[in-house]
Amino acid sequence: MRGQVVWLIGVIIFDLMVAMADTQTLKISDFQFGPFDSSYYNTFAVIQPATISNGALQVTPDSIGNFSLSNRSGRIFLNKAFKLWDGDSKNIATSTLASFNTSFLINVFRVSNSVPGEGVTFLIAPDPTLPPGSSGQYLGLTNKSTDGLSSNQLVAIELDTFKQDFDPDDNHIGLNINSVRSNKTVSLSEFDIQIAPNGTKFHVVWIQYDGKNKSMQVYMADQEEQTSPTPSRPSKPVLSADLDLSSLVKQKSYLGFSASTGSNVQLNCVLRWNLTIEVLPDGNEGKHWLKIGLAIGVPLVVLLLLGIGGLTCYWYKRRRARSDPNILGALKSLPGTPREFRFRDLKKATNNFDDKHKLGQGGFGVVYRGLLQKESLEIAVKKFSRDIKGKDDFLAELTIINRLRHKHLVRLLGWCHKNGMLLLVYDFMPNGSLDTHLFSGPANATLNWNLRYQIISGVASALHYLHNEYDQKVVHRDLKASNIMLDSSFDARLGDFGLARALENEKTSYAELEGVPGTMGYIAPECFHTGKATRESDVYAFGAVLLEVVCGQRPWTKIAEFQQLVDWVWWLHRERRILEAVDERLDNDYVDEEAERLLLLGLACSHPIASERPKTQAIFQIISGSMAVPHVPPFKPAFVWPSMPPPTSFSITASSMANTVDITPNSSGWTPRYISKDAQVEFSDSSSHM
Ligand SMILES: *[C@@H]1O[C@H](CO)[C@@H](O)[C@H](O)[C@H]1NC(C)=O
Ligand SMILES: *[C@@H]1O[C@H](CO)[C@@H](O)[C@H](O)[C@H]1NC(C)=O
Ligand SMILES: *[C@@H]1O[C@H](CO)[C@@H](O)[C@H](O)[C@H]1NC(C)=O
Ligand SMILES: *[C@@H]1O[C@H](CO)[C@@H](O)[C@H](O)[C@H]1NC(C)=O
Ligand SMILES: *[C@@H]1O[C@H](CO)[C@@H](O)[C@H](O)[C@H]1NC(C)=O
Ligand SMILES: *[C@@H]1O[C@H](CO)[C@@H](O)[C@H](O)[C@H]1NC(C)=O
Ligand SMILES: *[C@@H]1O[C@H](CO)[C@@H](O)[C@H](O)[C@H]1NC(C)=O
Ligand SMILES: *[C@@H]1O[C@H](CO)[C@@H](O)[C@H](O)[C@H]1NC(C)=O
Repeated sequence: MRGQVVWLIGVIIFDLMVAMADTQTLKISDFQFGPFDSSYYNTFAVIQPATISNGALQVTPDSIGNFSLSNRSGRIFLNKAFKLWDGDSKNIATSTLASFNTSFLINVFRVSNSVPGEGVTFLIAPDPTLPPGSSGQYLGLTNKSTDGLSSNQLVAIELDTFKQDFDPDDNHIGLNINSVRSNKTVSLSEFDIQIAPNGTKFHVVWIQYDGKNKSMQVYMADQEEQTSPTPSRPSKPVLSADLDLSSLVKQKSYLGFSASTGSNVQLNCVLRWNLTIEVLPDGNEGKHWLKIGLAIGVPLVVLLLLGIGGLTCYWYKRRRARSDPNILGALKSLPGTPREFRFRDLKKATNNFDDKHKLGQGGFGVVYRGLLQKESLEIAVKKFSRDIKGKDDFLAELTIINRLRHKHLVRLLGWCHKNGMLLLVYDFMPNGSLDTHLFSGPANATLNWNLRYQIISGVASALHYLHNEYDQKVVHRDLKASNIMLDSSFDARLGDFGLARALENEKTSYAELEGVPGTMGYIAPECFHTGKATRESDVYAFGAVLLEVVCGQRPWTKIAEFQQLVDWVWWLHRERRILEAVDERLDNDYVDEEAERLLLLGLACSHPIASERPKTQAIFQIISGSMAVPHVPPFKPAFVWPSMPPPTSFSITASSMANTVDITPNSSGWTPRYISKDAQVEFSDSSSHM
């Protein structure tokens, strides 16, 4: 009975913490704009001479309006201010910043091989206006008299195509704070990107602002055509900067674009725009306190009621001659349930959670080695951090692992809770994790080929069990070499189901994992779009592990010009030299046919398109040699998202083309309408200056 009261109180304390944290969890606003038509004049503040035409936000005019194209500037904002920070901007400790992610598809178009000018920016501004005199070098941001003033409260990411004397070159990205003189610039030629090449070119720009660590990352990639699927975001930013927006921009600011032309002109077209931004609560302190009051009050009442209930129950139970004491015993009553350990036994077993006993550390807890002296049993104890997420992780882990039984899964022995502290007890794995054997073991003790094959085969078997044999269909979600444990006979045991969830639960978020050390390279490309773990994404991770084991290289290892191990292996496959990928430390002591089979299987599992990856059933048969390896194409197929390209809703009607002259060379997809008869005069004027 005492145990259950402690349990109850533990649960309530966690609920309380979760409830309080909820008042701080921010909602997210999510916008997707485009293709653009005139209905967007309602959504955006379009400041002339900017227009919306020809399916795009024309931040500086195209030829449709009655505008000259040279010496122009324009701005287009979302018609709504966003609260970007909260609290006292002078006091960094108390201010909260809204994180946001934005991505947009642009086409910056130079005309007929002319010299382009000047640039386009993504802009955070205090109001939806356009300063006069902001054409030419001023990019629609500032003008001769205001440039550099902190009262501008401007932050922008510029894509600059014209070299001013303060610019590094005519093809760079920059971070601009209140000025067109960038605080940071990076030449895009280093990244093989031409903002405005000859011909038509589309680019996707991703801007990520992290309000917690106050940093901004900008990524950029080519997109084949306007209607092609958005490429996946590159892993390496083109520009990265620490940036405390609370000290720079107005609390409620507008988000949008600005651009300018000078004597040289270009089209500055935004074709799609996505924005995801955290919503900071509006400064209604009263409401805030009400929430906190509720957060504390409700659980207290619940606690009281449960207390009364518990006591009643207790007395009732006592009268019934101490029959089964379980009331909360859903867990305990399950067949084959692991046992409850006493905290003091675990404390003793791990020498008071001595650092010397530490086996490893995960996102949600530390694992210690321990010895239960009475039983002389070696155990691994996972102690969850007191983080509010702990309870969910704990329950998820417990309910799932509890019911899984397989010789290639790490066995759960029991659990313990004490003062809100949650612990799980596992079989101790004397040989540690696979990655330490592959990468930090002594050079002379490298895993031999047979052990490697046996390990892969064990992992495949465990994965097959999780995906198919167990009635509730489980995805592991976090398969990687450091989560594969080796028992005394070097058989693989999958561990760490802290992140495992039953498939029907869709609350998993992959986005959180991006950038977590030791995770990249195992995550399937579609996960960054769907945020969901699937059996297919587990297979992708399995493919990464497979290549890792055969090649003895981490999945994210850059080899030659290849960004990832898989790209290098794919290239060797194309060159018909795939066996060169096998770990050199094996000293050629391996079976060619087996190695080739595993490498090809690894590539097949790494297919960028989820539905093309083999299922665990087939994987298992391929490894056992009872099924042929699927055909692996010589080139890694492109990642396509969504898997079917969306229907084209953008097209130029014949009538809108009638009085325009299309001067786009090799136009494909996006054909900017550039010159009307008036504008043509304009343009030949300006080009005569060159
Ligand atoms: C075009 O601009 C000229 C001069 O700026 C003006 O006189 C004319 O009315 C404008 N035409 C239209 C259709 O707006
Ligand atoms: C922005 O993207 C990153 C990485 O994909 C993610 O961790 C973060 O939660 C996102 N932020 C918002 C506000 O969507
Ligand atoms: C915007 O988001 C949608 C849905 O996630 C995606 O299909 C599209 O590619 C995104 N566009 C850009 C430019 O990032
Ligand atoms: C574009 O074409 C012009 C004229 O052919 C040439 O001078 C210029 O170097 C080209 N620019 C690029 C970036 O290829
Ligand atoms: C610059 O813009 C400000 C308003 O933002 C305006 O008051 C000022 O006159 C402009 N200066 C020039 C030289 O255009
Ligand atoms: C950005 O640069 C301007 C001028 O170069 C400078 O005054 C300002 O302090 C810089 N701001 C930051 C945040 O570095
Ligand atoms: C801040 O977080 C982002 C990911 O959200 C990461 O890329 C960046 O390196 C971090 N910056 C710092 C200074 O920690
Ligand atoms: C654009 O403005 C600059 C500076 O004011 C001027 O020298 C140039 O002649 C203008 N170009 C055109 C085509 O009006």
